[in-house]
Amino acid sequence: MIRVVVLVHLMGFVLWLGGALASMVVGAASRREAPELFAAVARLQAAITSRIIAPGAAIVLLSGLWLTVDKYPGAAMAQASHWLFVMQAAGAIGALVVLLAALPTAAKLSRIDPQGNTAPLFLLLRKRQSILSSIAGTLALVALISAVML
Ligand code: HEM
Repeated sequence: MIRVVVLVHLMGFVLWLGGALASMVVGAASRREAPELFAAVARLQAAITSRIIAPGAAIVLLSGLWLTVDKYPGAAMAQASHWLFVMQAAGAIGALVVLLAALPTAAKLSRIDPQGNTAPLFLLLRKRQSILSSIAGTLALVALISAVML
């Protein structure tokens, strides 16, 4: 059973980081496109965020909590490698950034007209989204490196 949970844990990470890389490439490539396409790109990125990245981050977090409770009951946690704590902290904070900040920002961006008088708000939110995604992605990579060091 525990192997299944580790598999789910890793599949969640694949969804999270795979979706994040796809969204990043789409976002960067779209800057060379006509501004009329920005709204469609924001809607596509919101779909990637809500259907791939956020479920992946939630799966990593929930399966990680399951593994923690199952493998390190009670005082066993005190004997664990410090890399485990780094994975848990970086992974949990990264997942919360995705679920509590990047997901609502993506939804908001997909509803704002990038042209006309809402253009400055669109550009502000797009900048915020790229910062949030970089923070979450970096934390996910820190967690991955920590898992390799376990
Ligand atoms: C992006 C974030 C994360 C990544 C990439 C990641 C990656 C991994 C990997 C590769 C393993 C297997 C390690 C091995 O068997 O040698 C693992 C195990 C584990 N993960 Fe994560 N993890 C992440 C987040 C979390 C979080 C948020 C928690 C807890 C809140 C967590 C708790 C655990 C536990 C308890 C294990 C089992 C460790 C052991 O076998 O001793 N992980 N993780």
